[in-house]
This record gives sequence, structure tokens and C-alpha cells, in this order.
Amino acid sequence: MTTIRAARTEDAEALAALEAVCFPAGLYGVCLRRRDFLNYGRAKSYRLLVDNALGGYVAIWLRPGRRTARLVSIAVHPDRQGRGLATALMDSAENEARLMGAWRMSLEVREDNLRALQLYRIRGYGDEGRLPHYYEDGMAAVRLTRVLRPVFP
Ligand SMILES: CC(C)(COP(=O)(O)OP(=O)(O)OC[C@H]1O[C@@H](n2cnc3c(N)ncnc32)[C@H](O)[C@@H]1OP(=O)(O)O)[C@@H](O)C(=O)NCCC(=O)NCCS
Repeated sequence: MTTIRAARTEDAEALAALEAVCFPAGLYGVCLRRRDFLNYGRAKSYRLLVDNALGGYVAIWLRPGRRTARLVSIAVHPDRQGRGLATALMDSAENEARLMGAWRMSLEVREDNLRALQLYRIRGYGDEGRLPHYYEDGMAAVRLTRVLRPVFP
């Protein structure tokens, strides 16, 4: 059974390796490193969640005093894709964001990342605008947001 939990310090190495597989160099430009995962795991304004098999992760950020959380990144290992893991990670990330005090979640996604766009749109994320030349290779981003449902801890 898939369990989603907070990442631990000892997960950082595996998450950096997962990141490199999920975001091949040159395709998406930015790749999180071990240090980034350690920082996300420690910072009060971030939540870094993983599944128990470390097949995927999601990171969110809520700036203090704000009501809109940001989806920093989500990735699932290619061998584990298409089985609902990203959906489970998004469920948990949205719940965590709500518990942190957020009312909305926003994110940017490459315009050509059809899988990710589908994942978000199915969940009710709506278009907030297009950001031309957002990525290093010149690709545009689509900004998406959704209102978060209340959760009860
Ligand atoms: C985008 C990503 C996170 C989806 O992970 P996943 O675990 O495969 O997603 P899920 O199995 O939960 O599927 C969620 C929805 O995504 C869509 N999806 C998943 N696999 C798909 C595929 N092969 N083709 C098209 N759509 C797909 C489907 O709509 C699916 O919903 P459904 O199965 O109910 O129809 C994963 O493909 C990934 O890590 N990609 C590389 C990193 C990345 O692009 N991250 C997002 C950056 S913004």
C-alpha cells in the first residue's frame, strides 16, 4: 500500500537521484539537488512529501502571511508512473497546504508537459495565464491555480 509521509534527512540522496531521472538535463532546465531537498525538508514554510518506496515526491511552499501556496515541484519515477502516485502526492500536498493555512494552490508548468497539465486539470486547476519564455530553453509556462477544499486535522 502506498503511504505518503514527510521526507526525512536520509531521503535526500535518493530524491536527488529520482529528480535526475524525472527531469533529464536539457529537457526541463532546472534540476533540484540533494541540498535543495535537505532545505525543503527543514524549512518551516516548505513541506516535502514522499511515498514510502521513494518513487515520487512533491514539494510545496507557503510564504508566511500568504494564503496561496506554491507547488514547487512534483515527480514520479518513470517505472512508477500512470498508477496514481502523483494523484496521491497531490492529495497529500493540498491537504498539507490547507493545514498550513493556504486557501489556494498555484503552480507553473511547461506548456508542452501534457501529462502534468492533464494531472492538474483533472484536479480542477484552472488557467491563470501564460508566461512566454519562462524556461531556459524558451518554452512558455502555464500558470494554474485552484481553491483548496477545507480539511480537518
Ligand atoms: C506528471 C507526473 C508527476 C504524473 O505522475 P503519475 O504518477 O504518472 O500520475 P498519476 O498516475 O497520478 O496520473 C494522474 C493523471 O495524469 C495523467 N497521466 C498519467 N500518466 C499519463 C500518461 N502516460 N499519458 C497521459 N496522461 C497521463 C492522467 O490524466 C492521470 O489521470 P487518470 O489516470 O485518472 O486518467 C509524472 O509523469 C512525472 O513525474 N513526470 C516528470 C516530472 C514532471 O513533469 N513533473 C511535473 C512538473 S510541473
